[in-house]
Amino acid sequence: MENSKVEDLLSKINTLLDEAGTKINAADNLQILEALRVEYLGRKSQLIDILKGIKDAEPSQKAKLGQRSNLAKSQIENKIQEKIKQIKEKELKAIELQEEIDISIPPSGIKKGHKHLITTTIEEVEDIFMRMGFEVHYPYAIDDDYHNFESLNIPPGHPARDSWDTFWTEQGKIAITHTSSMQNRILSQQKPPVRAIVIGRCFRNEATDARHEHTFTQVEGVYVDKGITLPDMLGTLKEFFSKYYKKDLAVKFTPDFFPFVEPGGMMSLSCILCNGEGCKVCKQTGWLELLGCGMIHPKVLEMAGIDPKTYSGFAWGFGLERLIMLKNNINDIRLFNSGDLDFIKQF
Ligand code: PHE
Repeated sequence: MENSKVEDLLSKINTLLDEAGTKINAADNLQILEALRVEYLGRKSQLIDILKGIKDAEPSQKAKLGQRSNLAKSQIENKIQEKIKQIKEKELKAIELQEEIDISIPPSGIKKGHKHLITTTIEEVEDIFMRMGFEVHYPYAIDDDYHNFESLNIPPGHPARDSWDTFWTEQGKIAITHTSSMQNRILSQQKPPVRAIVIGRCFRNEATDARHEHTFTQVEGVYVDKGITLPDMLGTLKEFFSKYYKKDLAVKFTPDFFPFVEPGGMMSLSCILCNGEGCKVCKQTGWLELLGCGMIHPKVLEMAGIDPKTYSGFAWGFGLERLIMLKNNINDIRLFNSGDLDFIKQF
């Protein structure tokens, strides 16, 4: 075969390749691509015709043309595959767009929930104390021995530790037993006057019953300044409880022992149900014992870098659930964390 004819055939293959490429690019659906495959790669395609026409060529010419047309075939096939991929991706995108879910649209037919009674009460309590000039702190749920015990004048081995049995991590950390765990931090971080409350979850290794839970909320108070005395504490707490229960209440202090206060005691409130007359809830005494409190122990002040000769202060801690139970006539503390919707929905 003449070399010029071989050149002709080669350039024809190139032209076919270009032509196929343009058509494949322009194709916009899979049927057209299939038709193009038949046209350029099928048994009756021009490429096959070319190969049939070189039977009488020399082996080297045959090899050259054969290689070139094989290359052209695979290039066309690749182009078709590439285009099929593009078309399919485009189709998928269109479907995705159609089915796209807008998560910002509010659900219809689902009733909106509301804040839990504990949350709304925390907000209410914070509001009352903030108006009285207290700042609000939150405890670490997991803290160390120093903050939960030692800085509160409860050294290792102190028998008072038995009153605060709790859960320990393998690393020796503690699920806090009281919000007093923040006293040392608050007192060592600012100079008096200090007025702060701490609200947060506490944990105890309790046998649970209607009055005891392993997880509960405490409200701690710390007040330190020059010349602070026990009547200041009673006045502060009387003010708070009268605001929370929306009635004028009397308070009473009964001595009791906590290692971090001296004197320490329990504070009682005139019974909010019978106004001190005597009823079932206050066991006919007219008083409800509500919280532990006292004048901050000089050692606790010292450990926080405050000179007990210049400053004095008081601290208290009460359980938030108990307060709510009395206000709302709830008779089982376990209801708060029970997840019982009938209970939750009432408030
Ligand atoms: N932290 C004590 C408790 O949990 C309560 C308390 C706080 C008592 C502050 C006195 C002063 O029992």
